[in-house]
Amino acid sequence: MNLSHFKLRQLFAEFWEKNNHKLVPPISLIPQNDPTTLFTSAGMQPLVPYLLGENHPLGKRLYNIQRCFRSQDIEFVGDNRHTTFFEMMGNWSLGDYFKQEQLSWFFEFLVEKIKLNPEKLYVSVFIGENNLPKDTESIKIWQKIFKSYKINAQLNERIFAYSSEKNWWSRAGVPKDMPPGEPGGPDSEVFFDFGYPIHKNCHPNCECGRFLEIGNSVFMEYKKNPDGSFSPLPKKNVDFGGGLERILAVLNNNPDLFMSELYLPIIEEIEKTTGKKYQDKKNSPIIRVIADHLKAAIFLINDGVVPGNKEQGYVLRRLIRRTTLKLKHLTGDDKKINLINNLVNKVIKIYGEIYFSKEKNYQFITEIIENEMLKFGQTLKRGLSQIERLKKIDGKIAFDLYQSYGFPLELTEEILREKGVVVDKQQFAREFAKHKELSRVGSIKKFQGGLANKSQQTIKYHTATHLLHQALYDILGNSVRQEGSNITDERLRFDFFSLKKPTDIDIKQVEKIVNQKINEGLIVNFQLIDKEIALKSGAKAFFKEKYPQLVKVYSIGNYSKEICGGPHVKNTREIGKISIYKLEKIGSNLYRLYAK
Ligand code: ALA
Repeated sequence: MNLSHFKLRQLFAEFWEKNNHKLVPPISLIPQNDPTTLFTSAGMQPLVPYLLGENHPLGKRLYNIQRCFRSQDIEFVGDNRHTTFFEMMGNWSLGDYFKQEQLSWFFEFLVEKIKLNPEKLYVSVFIGENNLPKDTESIKIWQKIFKSYKINAQLNERIFAYSSEKNWWSRAGVPKDMPPGEPGGPDSEVFFDFGYPIHKNCHPNCECGRFLEIGNSVFMEYKKNPDGSFSPLPKKNVDFGGGLERILAVLNNNPDLFMSELYLPIIEEIEKTTGKKYQDKKNSPIIRVIADHLKAAIFLINDGVVPGNKEQGYVLRRLIRRTTLKLKHLTGDDKKINLINNLVNKVIKIYGEIYFSKEKNYQFITEIIENEMLKFGQTLKRGLSQIERLKKIDGKIAFDLYQSYGFPLELTEEILREKGVVVDKQQFAREFAKHKELSRVGSIKKFQGGLANKSQQTIKYHTATHLLHQALYDILGNSVRQEGSNITDERLRFDFFSLKKPTDIDIKQVEKIVNQKINEGLIVNFQLIDKEIALKSGAKAFFKEKYPQLVKVYSIGNYSKEICGGPHVKNTREIGKISIYKLEKIGSNLYRLYAK
């Protein structure tokens, strides 16, 4: 059956709605209030507290389609099935149904709803290890399901048992890598058999590409203990994730994901602009990288990321820089390629209203990408001429290239691989560590809360930003996150992220709350505590990953708690009246307000 991706989404939603599931709103690619990870890489991410036992306000049965980004897959992109950006079709049982219903339902969705041939479906289960048992229950369930389609499902023929590397899922991977407190469990995957290539000893997890994994049912029933053992979770959960692009590829009857309607217009645009054919075997891996990285960059920028030197910004920069290199590689010259604008438009057209609104102007996405490509193009010229003069790149030179020209190590390696030169990675790491220690002192400045100086007025404004942060959170909801602040004697400036667009009334209310708290004469106090404990206690944070282990947590009465270096007033009454005099939109879901 050939379905459009719109139709596939609709069928998926209908199926889970019919089975009494509620839609959980998808979240941004940049997770909120989750210091443990840079990107949303699975639909379950915002559900962790509920998988651990808390009650979800929408109930026990949930589903959605969540956009995801996996930076760890950057190196794999280039074959016919790996991408960094993808959409995960998910459904969850929070202590409700378990293996029997989950496996039967997913199979029913595949066979009855989207009409896949059951003969072409293969499954895998967990083989067991140490004290974690083999998943014999799932084997039995699968045998019954296949039998109802007159398929005799034998072990090692239709059902395959694999180790934890393949059939165990947690955010941290295999059982031994899970930190204490992390939930996880055995999983069962479904594969589609394209029937080729045919060779000896092939099996669903073979790398040849004959089998494509299209969905994974995780039976989240364990929690890791501090001593390394596992305890059962208070409730047994199901965490399912299926790749929308992959299911579409199956429906398209082509194992190459890039040939489905979610990529084809992008590929054609790249072919048209560069004059290089995708079907030419030496071009296809390069064109796939360009298509994947640009699509991911567009989505990241749309979710508020801009290229930078740290965290999400650095990953985005790496995607754009790799794209620049690949384009240069593909065309073999420095010809200016006007690809980005058309490509942004293609991506917007592919997804339409699902991710892009008709009213909004997306020119900024093109500008951000082109600007970064241009800057990197200049860097590249200078850096390449350096590299070309060298026969061997030791770690120190690689580090210089990194520092002076912004060449990430991976890129230097990539350029050099082409020229047959090896980089000394260990020496690079040593140089990097040395540099980090030197710059540590410099970076302490960053944690003084964006203060330009320490006059009495700036200290008052600084305490006011904490009240403001909490008040914005109260009024606009828990997507609010501080993005930066800048304080002078004249005013305070506060940048923040919010999924809800603030209205004039919202801002008036925020102002009212701040002044109320000022008038209440709340006491400002701090405690020195361990970073993890502080974050767990709900203290608001900024520059999360860069905090030292021991942090200062400032509380303002019972109203606000925030990790911060200070200084602050002792009593909120010292601040005096605050008025918010300007609000600007500075990016997608990003706002800047001024107060004095
Ligand atoms: N959370 C599971 C995965 O990402 C479903 O594969």
